[in-house]
Amino acid sequence: MIKDAYWIGMADGGDICPEFIKHFKVKTTIREAMLTITAIGVYEAQLNGKRIGDFILAPGCTAYNKRLQYQTYDITDMITDSNILSVTVGKGWHRSRMSENRPEINTKPCAIIAEIVIEYVNGETEIILTDKSWTVRNSRVIFNDIWDGETYDASLEPEVSKTVSVIDLDKNILIPQEGETVREQEILYPKELIITPKGEKVFDFGQEITGYVEFTIDAQKGDIVEWSCAEVLDKEGNFYNDNYRSAKSKLSYICRDGAQSYKPRFTFYGFRYIRIDKYPSEVKLEDFRAIAVYSDMERTGFVRTSNEKLNKLFQNALWSQRDNFLDIPTDCPQRDERMGWTGDAQVFAKTACYNYNAKKFFEKWLGDLRAEQRENGSVPDTVPNFWKIMRSSSAWGDVINVIAWQLYVMYGDKKTLEANLDAMRRWVDFMTNDSLDKYLWTCPDDSDKKWRKHYGDWLALDAPEGSYRGSTPDNFIASAFYAYSTELLIKAGNALGKDMTEYEELYKNIVSAFKKSFNKFTTQTEHILALVFNLTDNKAETAKSLADMIKANGNKLQTGFVGTPYLLYALSENGYADVAYDLLFQEEYPSWLYEVNHGATTIWEHWDGIKEDGSFWSDDMNSYNHYAYGSVMDWVYSVAGGIKPDENYAGFEQAVIAPVPDKRLEWIDVSVKTRRGIIKSKWTCESKGIRYDIETPVKTRIIIDRKQYDVEKGCYVFYGKNDVDKGVNDYARE
Ligand code: BGC
Repeated sequence: MIKDAYWIGMADGGDICPEFIKHFKVKTTIREAMLTITAIGVYEAQLNGKRIGDFILAPGCTAYNKRLQYQTYDITDMITDSNILSVTVGKGWHRSRMSENRPEINTKPCAIIAEIVIEYVNGETEIILTDKSWTVRNSRVIFNDIWDGETYDASLEPEVSKTVSVIDLDKNILIPQEGETVREQEILYPKELIITPKGEKVFDFGQEITGYVEFTIDAQKGDIVEWSCAEVLDKEGNFYNDNYRSAKSKLSYICRDGAQSYKPRFTFYGFRYIRIDKYPSEVKLEDFRAIAVYSDMERTGFVRTSNEKLNKLFQNALWSQRDNFLDIPTDCPQRDERMGWTGDAQVFAKTACYNYNAKKFFEKWLGDLRAEQRENGSVPDTVPNFWKIMRSSSAWGDVINVIAWQLYVMYGDKKTLEANLDAMRRWVDFMTNDSLDKYLWTCPDDSDKKWRKHYGDWLALDAPEGSYRGSTPDNFIASAFYAYSTELLIKAGNALGKDMTEYEELYKNIVSAFKKSFNKFTTQTEHILALVFNLTDNKAETAKSLADMIKANGNKLQTGFVGTPYLLYALSENGYADVAYDLLFQEEYPSWLYEVNHGATTIWEHWDGIKEDGSFWSDDMNSYNHYAYGSVMDWVYSVAGGIKPDENYAGFEQAVIAPVPDKRLEWIDVSVKTRRGIIKSKWTCESKGIRYDIETPVKTRIIIDRKQYDVEKGCYVFYGKNDVDKGVNDYARE
């Protein structure tokens, strides 16, 4: 048991990463040897000079004061007669600047706890635990911080190691690895070495990634290599990273003599470009490569269309997912945030679950969310919470209800609901108790209580001058999400066979109070929420009014984080699929394709991150890698391509395929790997009508031209009339 071991550490190593060392010998032939280990920080373990495992930035990011994961590695094949185990520990999320506002986490000493269990072929077992017999010394990593980067001094001679101190730290927080392993993934070679107008040497990797750069150099002791990161170049083509704000995101490397290569090990960077700030010799393309690092999830969703710009948009959303799924779902991977913002995750979760099997990734994070949920039921705006004050906003706190239900619908595991039902209920109860008015979630305009701070329709374009929050009133959004979260809680409870009468009553009352209090819709987002959360008796009129607003606005949206994810659904589910497609095809600002046309390789935080004239929206809040608006992809999977799980038969036990074509696309080809097999849906606009090719391994309700066909497993070709051609509307089984 790892809990039998002692926490050992170095009280104040400052910025330098300590290296813990244990020498041990084996007695006779071994059958198996396992290492179980974790650290306050992030660790890299080596046995006899070789890296153990491929988990980058282990033990990952959790709500550290309650949960700290440990990992177990099979080291059988690495063991020799006489062994040196070395464990270098960086600050990680735990002790970097990003958690400075939580001193109870951030100021913990750098420490490790570990256990090696050796089983010999003769049946004997030997256990080596971290204790006073281990030693420690300064490593060559002389600075590291998640936001600021890393400095490595290869010229340093190894120090003599000293004895460690045994430290009294909590062992009850230790839990086995729950999340996905974080691994090195794609390798990207630089596309170009740019010499900017200012004369800077800048590598362009052609794609924004999260990870780091590895380089090889032949140098002399004391030579220095230094680089900085950027997402975009400025209007003039110069290096620009003011939008990283206080995050330095640098690498400094002091060389030893001879040929050597290096990649950072205790930090990560969000970048497409690096500027070589110092380099002792000629900078050559072939000596650099970028490595993407993210949680190792299985890719499950694929979308291709006849429109290359849309394909690029979907690629960008996919990359924003990879880049922001490094153990926790983050807002962005580059500036001085990189936090598990709950609203962003809530918005993107559905897309995430189509693109990848995100079950394990999210379940671990929901574990941290439950650990961070306050006693009064409020859910913080970031998980883990590294802010001084743990705040709750509507649409952010609803994340627990939205994601738990989403995971159940996609993957059909009741255990997900069992684990989260109580937290979902407590979130609903929190809103009930926090409200000024019964059956709504209303609060005084001017009081951002300690646990409440609404972000509104964050970054919507109808925001009053100087505000980030959009024009849709907080009370409207909060009450709409109160209804939605209560509805999801009821569905979850019913799926588990619980008596939900109390909440069914509550839900009815919320809906009727909402309809009484909010019966006029002004902003696009008000229309959208009323439609998709079923909060209006007059859907036809509301949908028409929304479509008219969009048309009057030149087929353009105005929505922010709250309205955008549901915008296309509000239209297509209410007879305006053509307007939904108008928005999808729109290329002028603001639109999804505007950023594609302006060179985006990931999804931007702002619709106008780069303006028409090439200038930037601002330096202050302007990330080019925020996945929130990438949520448009789930509409493409589930409406355009039409592949949906049937909520009553969760986990794709039964599927619904209801594609909604548009003749401005020649074809779309969507496939989703479910736990029941791969479902494919393709439609092609042909002269005699629309041809639908559908392949499904499960019982499926196929809905084409509003006609429903219940079909058993198999392959089908349908012709639907849609508006391409009048005529054939038959279907046939192939
Ligand atoms: C983050 C967002 C987040 C927001 C809360 C920002 O700084 O980057 O994505 O949801 O704050 O309003």
